[in-house]
Amino acid sequence: MSALKERILKDGKVFPNNVLKVDSFMNHQIDPSIIREIAREFYEIFKDAGITKIFTIEASGIAPAIATAELFDVPMLFAKKTQPSTLANQERYETDVHSYTKNVTSRVIISKQYLNADDVVLIVDDFLANGEAALGLIDLVEQAGAIVAGIGICIEKSFQDGRTKLDAKGFKVHSVCRIASLDNEKVTFLED
Ligand code: G4P
Repeated sequence: MSALKERILKDGKVFPNNVLKVDSFMNHQIDPSIIREIAREFYEIFKDAGITKIFTIEASGIAPAIATAELFDVPMLFAKKTQPSTLANQERYETDVHSYTKNVTSRVIISKQYLNADDVVLIVDDFLANGEAALGLIDLVEQAGAIVAGIGICIEKSFQDGRTKLDAKGFKVHSVCRIASLDNEKVTFLED
């Protein structure tokens, strides 16, 4: 069993509405040993894909994305949820990402300067639930004319439809752990 799965079983807390709280080691306080192992797994899976950039969305994707970028020795780029005052409209790509969990829609942006048609991109994020964040990031990559080589997810909630949406579009998705159910406040993985 991977260190991430073991840690989820030990320290993850299931909240109402199928939310898994992992903020003691993943997305508030962060355990670098878990992040390092996740990054190594992404590197093993995608090392021959010619990746030139790791791409994520703030905030919680940044930790696994930077650790992954370090192994690939490429830059890490994150989509911003706040509008930088120094970036003119014609200098940015933007898209809307709806969060079902938080019931908010965020306009996310990147500078055109940091993604171009030569880039081969690995998207990394902490959670895959409904797939809205991943689809927003894919939209930004496509606006830039770049290629999505794959999507690396730390925790996939396989009982929500994000994975199905990405598979249907033909993307290569690798999830370090896949959760089949959070019923009865118990975490059940899809495969062990
Ligand atoms: P999606 O991105 O796959 O569409 O999923 P959804 O709309 O449901 O999730 C929106 C936000 O909630 C995302 O964070 C996602 O990482 C987070 N999230 C989804 N399910 C869970 C869960 O079970 N536990 C935790 N802890 N987070 C979950 P975000 O809006 O991008 O915010 P941030 O936390 O990265 O700043």
